[in-house]
Amino acid sequence: MAKLGIGVLGVGEMGRRHAENLRRLVPEARLLAVADVAPDRAREAASELEIEHSYRSLEDMLACKDLKAVVIATPDKFHAKAVQVAAAAGKDILCEKPLATNLVDAY
Ligand SMILES: NC(=O)c1ccc[n+]([C@@H]2O[C@H](COP(=O)([O-])OP(=O)(O)OC[C@H]3O[C@@H](n4cnc5c(N)ncnc54)[C@H](O)[C@@H]3O)[C@@H](O)[C@H]2O)c1
Repeated sequence: MAKLGIGVLGVGEMGRRHAENLRRLVPEARLLAVADVAPDRAREAASELEIEHSYRSLEDMLACKDLKAVVIATPDKFHAKAVQVAAAAGKDILCEKPLATNLVDAY
């Protein structure tokens, strides 16, 4: 079975934890990339997790070959937009809670 190619958006506390778990504990997953508005943080996470790709935005990461799913672990106010962008690109999504910061954005 082919491994599921996954990228993590936002590698602060939770994103880093998701990335480490995917990298080390989920054999069905292949952590392909991380992205963060803080490019040094993304680069450092990629280096420590021994993955090739780090990006500064979701849009850049979505171009990563073989990426099928995205974990969204940015601050709350960025979740809804990131979900829309990743869904429009046809990716499967795991979004940290909350999905959105108001009901309108959640629909
Ligand atoms: N920390 C926890 O215990 C915890 C538990 C459950 C859920 N959460 C949820 O996880 C999410 C992240 O929390 P955290 O504690 O990891 O926050 P954090 O501040 O530690 O990390 C957020 C990261 O996202 C990056 N970022 C900010 N805006 C971005 C954008 N537009 N695109 C890409 N990267 C961006 C920041 O540079 C930072 O590295 C929040 O929604 C929070 O509610 C956190």
